[in-house]
Amino acid sequence: MPWAFQAEGLVKRYGKTTALAGIELAAEQGSVLGVLGPNGAGKTTAVRILATLLRPDAGRATVGGFDVVRDAAKVRRLIGLTGQYASVDEDLTGTQNLVLIGQLLDLRTPDAKARAVELLAGFGLSEAAGKQVKTYSGGMRRRLDLAASLVGRPEVIYLDEPTTGLDPAKREDVWSMVRSLADDGVTVLLTTQYLEEADALADTISVIDHGKVIANGTPGELKRVVGGQTVLIRPADPADLVTASAIAGAVADRQVESPARGVLTVPVDGDAAFTEIVRRLAQERIAVTELSLRLPSLDEVFFTLTGHHTQQEAA
Ligand SMILES: Nc1ncnc2c1ncn2[C@@H]1O[C@H](COP(=O)(O)OP(=O)(O)OP(=O)(O)O)[C@@H](O)[C@H]1O
Ligand SMILES: [Mg+2]
Repeated sequence: MPWAFQAEGLVKRYGKTTALAGIELAAEQGSVLGVLGPNGAGKTTAVRILATLLRPDAGRATVGGFDVVRDAAKVRRLIGLTGQYASVDEDLTGTQNLVLIGQLLDLRTPDAKARAVELLAGFGLSEAAGKQVKTYSGGMRRRLDLAASLVGRPEVIYLDEPTTGLDPAKREDVWSMVRSLADDGVTVLLTTQYLEEADALADTISVIDHGKVIANGTPGELKRVVGGQTVLIRPADPADLVTASAIAGAVADRQVESPARGVLTVPVDGDAAFTEIVRRLAQERIAVTELSLRLPSLDEVFFTLTGHHTQQEAA
């Protein structure tokens, strides 16, 4: 498979800040690359370079074989970008926004209108099509943003933190859109601060920190390094902590930790261990106020990979 895009040794400095320190990113055609990193890691900067909106100080990047600096116009014809911050016009309606973008992309007006109708329907926005965007909810805006980036039927699409700030149901909507784009053969670069999201969507994940890739691989490979799922138990009665800890430790056959008072966590290899822990807690009649199976947070991923917390946690 040829690379849909490829960035090699990208460096970008803003005064004394090195936003990118020689980053390498690549995705095969039709795949989803997840770029996972905390605030300030360099995600948006990398996306802007790949989108021809920013020139790198060093290194090179190509999209569809075209250089993002020398062949910027050709690159722009291949890509769609949904920015981290809304890019649509608040005073226009959903339809007007999409038609305007279509016209900017040189579509004939009837074609731009037809494309707008099709996209608004696809994103569940037909009813809101004639309303001004300033009346939209955050989730509707995000969907309109995504629709806007698809007007020109891009081969490669960049989604910069497309679900930040969305509630879980809206997040699921965006996830299914990303999946259907990938099914249609579109190559997706998705930046996120959630391992869960990268795990759910990406074929490969590049974890970045301070403008460098610090880990790279399939979600499975990454989880083998940073640890898979964790069971979290909060007994209703703190007197049950000892028994609950013994159960969790015995089932998981791993060290049980207590990251906060009254809370136990233990790494597990799969759902079966979780089910067994639940069964044994019930058997011992231990009531819980919290019981969950989750992937490590970005901060936990960072701590495993780098030995330090993400800056926002440290701050
Ligand atoms: N226009 C700019 N001028 C000066 N510094 C900048 C500029 N844009 C980004 N930076 C700095 O470059 C670094 C990388 O920023 P970038 O926006 O790429 O990070 P990010 O991973 O997208 O973060 P976030 O998750 O908060 O969106 C940060 O230290 C940021 O402060
Ligand atoms: Mg950003």
